[in-house]
Amino acid sequence: MKLYLKIWRQFDTSSKGEMVDYEIDNVSEHMSFLEMLDLLNESLIHKKERVIEFDHDCREGICGQCGIMIDGRAHGPLKNTTTCQLHMRSFKDGDTIYIEPFRAKAFPVLRDLKIDRSAFDKIITAGGFIGASTGQAPEANSIPISYETAEASFDAAACIGCGACVATCKNASAALFTGAKITHLALLPQGKIEASKRVLTMVQQMDAEGFGNCSDTRACEIECPQGVSILSIAKMNAEYTKALIFRK
Ligand code: FES
Repeated sequence: MKLYLKIWRQFDTSSKGEMVDYEIDNVSEHMSFLEMLDLLNESLIHKKERVIEFDHDCREGICGQCGIMIDGRAHGPLKNTTTCQLHMRSFKDGDTIYIEPFRAKAFPVLRDLKIDRSAFDKIITAGGFIGASTGQAPEANSIPISYETAEASFDAAACIGCGACVATCKNASAALFTGAKITHLALLPQGKIEASKRVLTMVQQMDAEGFGNCSDTRACEIECPQGVSILSIAKMNAEYTKALIFRK
């Protein structure tokens, strides 16, 4: 199929960017969205033009590196699908597609579609480590955890840190990301000792990075490719309040 692409081009963080028009032919419906961009880049290389830079790594929906606004939606039109797992069969011959980076003050554009997501790393770093006994791995049944608790913790741990929640939120809030990271440890006995300190420092870092406040629109939950629930935000708020009340 033939497609008309409008792609955000920006040389670096301090440059002014703009949408640039491209046409691409012979796109197979079996290609992934990123393979379609690879094909476009090959044609740019042949013309000795600068390639379009974009983030990616695993291309399996695991690492959270890819993240593009496609026709105004984080990761494109499909639910629970990362950009790398989106295929061109979701588009049709003659379509015009708008392709932009995830936009937020805390995610500066590095070049074209590449953004700096180190603000997320700083939130994780602020959380610190969990206390754990050294030595051999403990016997699996020595710390009983109910099925429901384990599943809820796994659901929150499914967050891949892609930033779709931030890019989708009208406030550019990182509450879903931070809430997911806090929730998955707060639910488990291994994370209990540092739970109060962790939630306070992570929320403080989230605010320091310039993310906005959550106003409960649920847009983040709808666009999250991993289906992380906003219950994680409720859990973060509960943990935060508890930590403030019992702070020594
Ligand atoms: S490239 Fe790893 S999730 Fe898309």
